[in-house]
Amino acid sequence: MAENSEQEACRRTWFEEARFGLFVHWGCYAVLGRGEQIMARDLMPLREFEPLAQQFRPRGDWARRLASRAVAGGARYVVLTTRHHDGYCLFDTATHGFTAARTGPGRDLVREYVEALRAAGLRIGFYYSLLNWRWRCHWDPVTYADELPRMVAEVHTQVRELMTRYGKIDILWYDAPSLPGSAAHGMWGGKALQVPAAEFWRSAELNAMARELQPGILINNRSGLPEDFGTPEQRVEAEGGRLWETCMTVNYAPGWGYLRHSMANKAPGEVLFNLVDAVRLGGNFLLNVGPRADGAIDAREGEVLDRIGRWLGRHGEAVYGTCPARIYPARGGRVQGPMFHYGMWTCRGSVGYLSLFYYPGEELILSKIGPRVVSASLLTTGEALQVDAIPNGRWRIGGLPSEPPDPLAPVVKVSFEGPPYALTDLGPEWLDGTWRPAGPEHGGPP
Ligand code: GLC
Repeated sequence: MAENSEQEACRRTWFEEARFGLFVHWGCYAVLGRGEQIMARDLMPLREFEPLAQQFRPRGDWARRLASRAVAGGARYVVLTTRHHDGYCLFDTATHGFTAARTGPGRDLVREYVEALRAAGLRIGFYYSLLNWRWRCHWDPVTYADELPRMVAEVHTQVRELMTRYGKIDILWYDAPSLPGSAAHGMWGGKALQVPAAEFWRSAELNAMARELQPGILINNRSGLPEDFGTPEQRVEAEGGRLWETCMTVNYAPGWGYLRHSMANKAPGEVLFNLVDAVRLGGNFLLNVGPRADGAIDAREGEVLDRIGRWLGRHGEAVYGTCPARIYPARGGRVQGPMFHYGMWTCRGSVGYLSLFYYPGEELILSKIGPRVVSASLLTTGEALQVDAIPNGRWRIGGLPSEPPDPLAPVVKVSFEGPPYALTDLGPEWLDGTWRPAGPEHGGPP
């Protein structure tokens, strides 16, 4: 039965309010600590790659620890790679034995993950790569044409297993609907199949099955069909009119799976800047970690997650459940840069939150923003701030500490007379200090 708009809104609301999730790239490749793509990058024959699965020995409590790190980090949901491009399944499957259940770990890690997340009150996401390097037909669909239907059938069986064995799942996060023979990773010069990806993978049928089994599920756009939400990767870019989520690594390489020696990494402030940028545009932010083979998050990524968590602990009100500010007008489908003077605005009704990425010192001048400011406080500490109207339609917010009260981005909470918006009718009188915004809320004509 088709979903009505109320049911659809209900299915999506939690995701919109959550704003921040944790992406977890984990598989037997973690044994090497050279990223999740090491099999194809190093052209490892199967006989070289498969033994890694025997050495893959997660701790018994990896999932509980992961869930508590996610909660402490302020994430509201987690998305785990149940299978990446190497085809290794963290779950047990009837299709083959290259799984956590039947190699080193000797157990269904997806089950442990689901149970731990549920106990911690986190929403549950399954990443699943359609692409599977282990099939010869993926590289050469001409010579191995007879394998193609079996490769697709394996996907349908595994997705059904994932959708039936673990209770309620919140997100199905596909990846890489690559067509066999396409110039995957620049390594194949042969002929790609000439069909749309969604047709090849029978994605409409696959997703209909997933929705029938999991009526509340959200599905991303990487099965070759748009489905529920967009997935800009390593960049923040609004997808107008629909849900979207930026996914991003802490390192620049990029490596999503565990990197023992990552040489170029984003600082916590950089990660936070991207997070707030996504939120102010109405998107979600999915921060990636690549745990070690024992399942622990390494110090480098753990530190970023903890710092973000501490920031959200103080400033979560400026993130969870906020809406894009009307302060950022769309321009030809693209929005202006993230900074509105000192920081980025997020909103809830008549309240605006300004996350300060330039800390101004004792006073903050709010300009080019309306309607009237009623009051302000420092969300970071809860202290009330002083508000004065000053020339050129500005507001002076006084009483801030001279040094930044938070090591990342202090947040000022401003109550306006109505939902805040940018003032755009500036005239040259501002040079004389006599400009006044038009409109009744500023005492001018309507
Ligand atoms: C890229 C990477 C892949 C990773 C994905 C996450 O496509 O190649 O390994 O899983 O990003 O979005």
